[in-house]
Amino acid sequence: MRPAPALALAALCLLALPAAAAAAYFGLTGREVLTSFPGLGTEAAPTQGSAHLKQCDMLKLSRRQKQLCRREPGLAETLRDAAHLGLLECQFQFRQERWNCSLEGRNGLLKRGFKETAFLYAVSAAALTHALARACSAGRMERCTCDDSPGLESRQAWQWGVCGDNLKYSTKFLSNFLGPKRGSKDLRARADAHNTHVGIKAVKSGLRTTCKCHGVSGSCAVRTCWKQLSPFRETGQVLKLRYDSAVKVSSATNEALGHLELWAPAKPGSPTKGLAPRPGDLVYMEDSPSFCRPSKYSPGTAGRVCSREASCSSLCCGRGYDTQSRLVAFSCHCQVQWCCYVECQQCVQQELVYTCKR
Ligand SMILES: *[C@@H]1O[C@H](CO)[C@@H](O)[C@H](O)[C@H]1NC(C)=O
Repeated sequence: MRPAPALALAALCLLALPAAAAAAYFGLTGREVLTSFPGLGTEAAPTQGSAHLKQCDMLKLSRRQKQLCRREPGLAETLRDAAHLGLLECQFQFRQERWNCSLEGRNGLLKRGFKETAFLYAVSAAALTHALARACSAGRMERCTCDDSPGLESRQAWQWGVCGDNLKYSTKFLSNFLGPKRGSKDLRARADAHNTHVGIKAVKSGLRTTCKCHGVSGSCAVRTCWKQLSPFRETGQVLKLRYDSAVKVSSATNEALGHLELWAPAKPGSPTKGLAPRPGDLVYMEDSPSFCRPSKYSPGTAGRVCSREASCSSLCCGRGYDTQSRLVAFSCHCQVQWCCYVECQQCVQQELVYTCKR
């Protein structure tokens, strides 16, 4: 029998590789410093002066948003980080679906009222909320710092060097930045605004209070608490579940309020007339296309890698798949060397890869 510690380490070794590969591929755990992404610049401090203004001009923003961006040093970087965070999370959540959140067709999708449109609005708003709250607590914004909710001993938290994620500032800024869309006459605008709020709420409900003990040998004589966002991956998962159970809506004019309301008609045969969607529901208005073939919404599924047991039949839309074999390297026979590091060998394994036919 192999000695237990070595076995445990070997298991870790084998586990470490796919995890690292996954991190390299998807880039995200939701915990990283947001400005360290490749291609997004590495400046930690807010960009000063004209460089900051230039960055605001480079982003696709409305006139009002551009003005807000120019007034808020650090925001341009945060907006870019948020776009990246939202995109990576969307691609992660939809990695096994026919629509894989590719940028190709994005503009077409955003103009429609599909479930995918709903998810895009929600995940983008969530990413922006998350990135902004983090940017505040990380000191990358000029106009906000740590969360300073009363009752949370944040003065002490400062002393101990922990800084709560500032969700209060983030959501307040965001509702101003995204503009007042509630009450709009147009069903599409109402649905987009609703889905945006679903995204913001998903980040809010993931906010946790974390406490740390201080005092002689961790006696907890002094306790500091602060608020911390959950990893963005968890928010992504919540939103994906909401996508899976999204509610189809049509419009109804609320006579009393005199404006348009979202309305989810009841299923045929149901005794009720229908309901307003719940605040947490993602809403959509049109059934999605199949996303099988290239269209103005997606590049189709030709060439997509699938799992023969799990996803090939649905992902390839009945066109079948090609099988290729390839060699993959992984760490193996890991051993603890005296003293104290782990040495692994490289092993090679044959692996079959299935890809959808054209
Ligand atoms: C999504 O699918 C398209 C079309 O098959 C592919 O070219 C692209 O690389 C995929 N994107 C991601 C992020 O997996």
